Amino acid sequence: MSKVVLGIETSCDETGVGIVRGSELLANTVASSMAEHARFGGVVPEIAARAHLEAMQPTITAALREAELELTDIDAVAVTAGPGLAGALMVGIGAAKGLASALNVPLYGVNHLVGHVAADALDRDEIELPTVALLVSGGHTSLLHVRDLVRDSELLGETIDDAAGEAFDKVARLMGLGYPGGPAIDEAAVDGDPDAIRFPRGLTLPKDRERHRFDFSFSGLKTSVARWIEREQAAWREIPVADVAASFREAVVDVLLTKALDACAHKETPRLLLGGGVVANARLRSEAQRRCEEAGVELRVPPLQLCTDNGAMIAGLGALAIAAGSQPSPPEFGAVSTLDVRYTVLEH
Ligand code: KG4
Ligand code: ZN
Repeated sequence: MSKVVLGIETSCDETGVGIVRGSELLANTVASSMAEHARFGGVVPEIAARAHLEAMQPTITAALREAELELTDIDAVAVTAGPGLAGALMVGIGAAKGLASALNVPLYGVNHLVGHVAADALDRDEIELPTVALLVSGGHTSLLHVRDLVRDSELLGETIDDAAGEAFDKVARLMGLGYPGGPAIDEAAVDGDPDAIRFPRGLTLPKDRERHRFDFSFSGLKTSVARWIEREQAAWREIPVADVAASFREAVVDVLLTKALDACAHKETPRLLLGGGVVANARLRSEAQRRCEEAGVELRVPPLQLCTDNGAMIAGLGALAIAAGSQPSPPEFGAVSTLDVRYTVLEH
């Protein structure tokens, strides 16, 4: 009988508690502090940590109710050990340690990024590997090659400045649109022309290929949008909001998919998995479909509630680690904000 694993996720602004039995999803409960960050235009770590502390107990209770289980039915606990905001991670790890020791069950500190890939296993019985994974959220933009979820993940590249979601949030802010910026820009872009303005595609020049072939940079793009708007305003021209939004979105989507498909070709892996909150983007989804089809690459997009940060993917990864014979994490493990993707489980 597969183990019942409770997973806790607190790396950013979502307090996620999920429960799985093997790859079967029993509960996925999420509380978000997003609204509390809105007036700052981005996640404030201290506010996120405090919100996790307040939401933790109710979210655990809600997850148990959803799964129709008691605490004593839990066979193991998994928790995000990193990467993420240190203070936020510590709240989840503290709760997980308390729970695991009170229940006398093993505890697994796991990798958030690999968790995004594990989300795919909850949507089907078995995860198909190897795969390239493009993980895009407010906190990370990472390109992974995963051969074995527990033992063999490689980070091909990541953002060297802003995360993709952060770029949406910052550009939305300078355009006077709401927070979070992704949905606001998606909406503003509906009737816009994606080719109206040619914004720069970061790290895609031939000279970038050697050192940054699979890395991303969005801060130049953000500055370019700001300068473009300033120039138009200085000339007393009205800002074509829909065209700016659509052209900006196009630049982000183009870079993300060009690099992801280049990674598929480079690794001879015709499979691409998407994860992270930016996967909600309408253009990213439609272009991913079109370009993957064109390239003969199988596209996997888990349901959105499993793409955004959640505890179910952490529980799912914990279950996979247990099945693969991973050792529980040592009792003294702590938050590792920059946890390397090679460490799926903190074993020593
Ligand atoms: O994975 P997620 O919920 O977790 C955090 O990073 O907290 O991702 C949130 C991010 C935000 O930056 C938000 O602007 C972005 O995902 N996002 C989107 C869309 N919906 C959310 N970005 C682009 N288009 C969207 N439709
Ligand atoms: Zn994430």
